[in-house]
Amino acid sequence: MSLFSPVRVGALTLKSRVVMAPMTRNRTPGQVPNALNAEYYAQRASAGLIVTEGTTPDASGRGYIDIPGLYNAAQVEGWRQVAGAVHAKGGHIFVQLMHTGRISHPDFLDGAAPVAPSAIAAPGEIYTHEGMKPHGTPRALEAAEIPALIATYGRAATLAREAGLDGVEVHGANGYLPGQFLAPNVNQRTDEWGGSVENRARFLLGAVDAAVAAIGADRVGVRLSPGGVFNDIHDPDAPATYAYVAGELAKRNLAYLHIFDTKPGFDVAALIRAHYKGTLILNGGYDRARAEADIASGLADLIAFGVPFLANPDLPERLAQGAALNTPDQASFYGGGAKGYTDYPALAA
Ligand SMILES: Cc1cc2nc3c(=O)[nH]c(=O)nc-3n(C[C@H](O)[C@H](O)[C@H](O)COP(=O)(O)O)c2cc1C
Repeated sequence: MSLFSPVRVGALTLKSRVVMAPMTRNRTPGQVPNALNAEYYAQRASAGLIVTEGTTPDASGRGYIDIPGLYNAAQVEGWRQVAGAVHAKGGHIFVQLMHTGRISHPDFLDGAAPVAPSAIAAPGEIYTHEGMKPHGTPRALEAAEIPALIATYGRAATLAREAGLDGVEVHGANGYLPGQFLAPNVNQRTDEWGGSVENRARFLLGAVDAAVAAIGADRVGVRLSPGGVFNDIHDPDAPATYAYVAGELAKRNLAYLHIFDTKPGFDVAALIRAHYKGTLILNGGYDRARAEADIASGLADLIAFGVPFLANPDLPERLAQGAALNTPDQASFYGGGAKGYTDYPALAA
């Protein structure tokens, strides 16, 4: 099996196992995907699968400047433009559903407090239209409002299909809302949404089940970062937490499970593989040699590339040829216009 062999992923047959990892680029003012966003993704349509930047399934999940949403009619039209541009070039695209939970600020929420499992502030600051501000203390969700929030993942999945997107990835990684529920230091609830691992996983699994009920398991993927500490996540029992979650996801026959391995001090890929026999995407610092090795050994079915794809619109071709890669410009990762977004050159034809 090679990185460049086709692979069946849920409802789709992909041309290769090279995936574009989800990357927030903060270039969607008004939360409605635009022509520049469509051009950026279309440039990268040679990926086997594109996973879009984190996209909020609900207005309460807006957490960063100028990130897209998928909860109203204008956004559906915006995403239709993106999906159409990618499909016209033979690509496939899943939208990543990211509710940021406490990693937000009232400035993004019409003055309302961000929502979270518990009223525990994330340390640090967030970049707002008025510069850096502390996150502040979120509002703990009432148990009675959680089912409606979970249902927004189903609604967003339905809207994704309406827009012509191929499926959705539920973002359970990197300390956003589902990851906040999973983490004992952020989730101190004593009701059925906190405490035991079964209770802490209930939000994530509920969101996944809502998306599955809306569009079918073969169009739903999930992203996790087991043991990851980004956004002040601390789980002293991370291997047990993620063994349970992987086992529960395995029962659902999803399109894929996508793991961002942040090397937390245990063997993340081996742990997940032991509990998850379905299609597995691995990510985190890959180059071609490591990608080929992990696919050949059966550890991974596909490999996602983040920064290399950001800086190289024709990454699969460059990997296949062993060509040199463009240098990423970190200063233009988050926000701005075409510079550092759609102006990275492809190889000369
Ligand atoms: C600019 C940037 C934005 C990112 N935004 C997201 C995001 O919205 N959702 C997500 O799950 N991961 C996000 N990530 C993490 C990447 O998907 C990926 O896990 C990380 O870059 C490691 O992969 P790499 O070593 O191939 O770059 C982001 C990374 C970068 C560099």
